[in-house]
Amino acid sequence: MLSYRTAGESHGQALIALVEGLPSNLAVDFDFINNELKRRQGGYGRGGRMKIERDQVQFLSGVRHGVTLGSPVAMMIENRDWPNWEETMSVRQVSQEAAEKRRVTRPRPGHTDLAGSLKYNQVDARNILERSSARETAARVAAGALCKVFLREFGIEVLSHTTAIGNARVPVDFKVTWEQLEAIRNDDVVRCALPDLSAEMVREIEKAQKDGDTIGGTFEVIARAVPTGLGSHSAWDTRLDGRLAQAVMSINAVKAVEIGDGVQVAYSRGSGAHDEIGYDAAAQRFYRYSNRAGGLEGGITNGEDVRVVGYLKPIPTLKKALRSVDMISKEPFLAQHERSDTCTVPAAGIIGEAMVALVLARAFLEKFGGDSMEETSRNFSAYLEQLRKYPEL
Ligand SMILES: Cc1cc2nc3c(=O)[nH]c(=O)nc-3n(C[C@H](O)[C@H](O)[C@H](O)COP(=O)(O)O)c2cc1C
Repeated sequence: MLSYRTAGESHGQALIALVEGLPSNLAVDFDFINNELKRRQGGYGRGGRMKIERDQVQFLSGVRHGVTLGSPVAMMIENRDWPNWEETMSVRQVSQEAAEKRRVTRPRPGHTDLAGSLKYNQVDARNILERSSARETAARVAAGALCKVFLREFGIEVLSHTTAIGNARVPVDFKVTWEQLEAIRNDDVVRCALPDLSAEMVREIEKAQKDGDTIGGTFEVIARAVPTGLGSHSAWDTRLDGRLAQAVMSINAVKAVEIGDGVQVAYSRGSGAHDEIGYDAAAQRFYRYSNRAGGLEGGITNGEDVRVVGYLKPIPTLKKALRSVDMISKEPFLAQHERSDTCTVPAAGIIGEAMVALVLARAFLEKFGGDSMEETSRNFSAYLEQLRKYPEL
């Protein structure tokens, strides 16, 4: 079973990702993984932190001579900001003065500060926000990138694009093509597939910045060449739509997830909601005339592109701070301001890709298994043959 876990605080020494369950003999594309980390760091509206960091992954275990061993893969991303935080974030006891220097007691509405401090009985919300910070998602992107490398071996690719920032939105019926997704360059500041709309998105971010405010939006993740048959209808927690929704919802600040045109079809008639079925005799495959279902029916992939949309709230740290209460004195104060981003939608799209890749890689290995890439490939090929020959009883 493929599983992963991350560790690390935002201003700690490093972030860690541990991935277990990948087959042996997968060739690791180190440059690709580092480039994924770079993509997460980009986007217009990021704060000062991303100017300091130059995320690079170091493999600590599970890989030898460029290929996986089938043992746990441990990856580390060092925080370049660490020297500025060594004392504040020291694992050892420090003087009271040092401990209190960057204490946070005026919680930000919308962040984890207050709920986490109450739950874990902390008087310094830093003990909560350091882990709750989306810096952690760098480790998820490293783990997801490794899964992308794995999925690529079977022709499956995952990309994303920004579909809204504030009021600058792609048209409701806009369907992005794979060529448009590929054309979004690494340095595209908002990662929008419609170049004319990019400038409008930038203006939305600038307006929010000028007002000391923050701004949210939406991104869409698309996975192509996903075979029919990942996930299962047979139990609530095996449905792949549910698993994808949970994974994307777990991204910091994502407050709603949509599969395909899920929101729009709720307001449509059945005749305008479902994807009619055709059969391509030459390719020996069923296909759909549309893909409103986002490649999933009954929690099982149906061979069309998997499409997942994430909706982000505006991030909670505002320059023009919101009303709060000091956790110790209980006096009303404005919320504390930490160095912060204004808009993170373009970065969230990259994190969304990683989360979707992690879910798909796990579902893929559930179906095809295999301790080595050779064994997984054999199992996969045999299944594709079964689909082509269907029904072969
Ligand atoms: C890439 C990324 C960067 C983020 N950066 C910030 C930030 O600089 N300041 C902030 O207050 N929130 C930021 N957030 C959002 C918070 O991490 C998030 O709101 C917080 O953890 C509370 O979780 P929730 O919003 O999911 O309830 C960021 C989110 C993402 C996805």
